[in-house]
Amino acid sequence: MKTEADLLVENAAQLLTLAPSPRARDAEEKLGLIPDGTLAAKGGRIIWAGPAGETSKRVSLAPDAKEVDASGKVVLPGFIDSHTHLLFAGTREKEFELRLQGASYQEVAAGGGGIKSTVEKTRRASKEELLRVGKKHLDSMLSLGTTTVEAKTGYGLSTMDEIKMLEVLRDLAREHPVEVVPTFLGAHEIPPEYAGKTEDYVRVVIDEMIPAVAEKKLAHFCDVFCEKGVFSPVQSRQILEAGKRHGLLPKLHADELTPLGGAELAAEVGAVSADHLLFISEKGMEAMAEKGVVATLLPGTAFFLFLGRYAPARRMISKGVTVALATDFNPGSCMTESLPLITTIACTQMRMTPAEAIWGITLHAAKALRMEKELGTLEPGKQADLVILDIPDYRHLSYHFGVNHAWKVIKKGRLVWEAESAHSTIRVDPR
Ligand code: NIG
Ligand code: FE
Repeated sequence: MKTEADLLVENAAQLLTLAPSPRARDAEEKLGLIPDGTLAAKGGRIIWAGPAGETSKRVSLAPDAKEVDASGKVVLPGFIDSHTHLLFAGTREKEFELRLQGASYQEVAAGGGGIKSTVEKTRRASKEELLRVGKKHLDSMLSLGTTTVEAKTGYGLSTMDEIKMLEVLRDLAREHPVEVVPTFLGAHEIPPEYAGKTEDYVRVVIDEMIPAVAEKKLAHFCDVFCEKGVFSPVQSRQILEAGKRHGLLPKLHADELTPLGGAELAAEVGAVSADHLLFISEKGMEAMAEKGVVATLLPGTAFFLFLGRYAPARRMISKGVTVALATDFNPGSCMTESLPLITTIACTQMRMTPAEAIWGITLHAAKALRMEKELGTLEPGKQADLVILDIPDYRHLSYHFGVNHAWKVIKKGRLVWEAESAHSTIRVDPR
């Protein structure tokens, strides 16, 4: 029997399902690429995706169904940004300039800038102000094709201010079409009132913050910035284990600026993902592959901090690690909302292929959020989250960079964003 659809996205030049047959060999087959493809949805869920020619055999149309002609365009799952610091007050463009003059990220932080300066402003900001800023960031992400965003706290660093951030994230999730997945990152930095007393702050995170966050059911994940001068591997483990006892799934900022064995730690505590990983060891890669910890690579940060190195993506892929890509959007180390730009950096600097980059911002990112049953591919039963790009071939997403290719964005079967008028030209009087 034919199912009745309330949304039909028809005749895409390339429909990427990311659900290939097990026999897939080349990049296009592995992306589940259907030339001249059509997708049908009902009630916000995908009911069918296949060759346009088979549509009438497979689905019928509800009287008020929406039809979108995607001829000449590429349709793929909505992008998932699985690592962001979405919510913050103030910006840090002066630090950018200082770094251009030669100061390192750590030196800027030691000089009173860095995460602490954003903490100061975020603590002072009202919930309304943070909500307004958060919406602006989400609007921008949505316009670039992102339909789901993980968002970390970590600019509050007191129980009250961390809860404030989480409550704003909850309100954002209610008010904005982009799905927001909250992560508690109370261990992002040592707040000024605990300077020189890291152990005492770790106790506050474990004894006060985690129980309060869990009790209010405000976060899915618990993350820690495991780094020299911030939280040691021992402290990180204590915090992540405490999070687990309260039902928060572990994530870790690991091996970002120095090699500390963060990847190994992530595997030992059963983290869902370990992120950054510029200084990951061979053992760390093997442990992550074995335990199924997703590597979330954030090449925009290495680019923006001009660290002169990137995470060894090819080596990780060859060892069987699942590689996701995310923005790390934040005011200090990566001020961009653009996942397409991240795919270009991933290809040019880490030698990932355009197809691997697409996996990184769809299914692999869904896995980094434990949401792969709902998101990340265009398969029947999953949420109808998709982006329609005004490009003739999927490779243009990474190849043709610095411009926005998003034409329409659909979240849970509903059109939530569209380009005003693609390729509109403004005529100027030639005198
Ligand atoms: O992921 N590594 C720590 N946290 C962020 C930076 C946050 C900031 O500078 O405000 C990161 O790079
Ligand atoms: Fe981060």
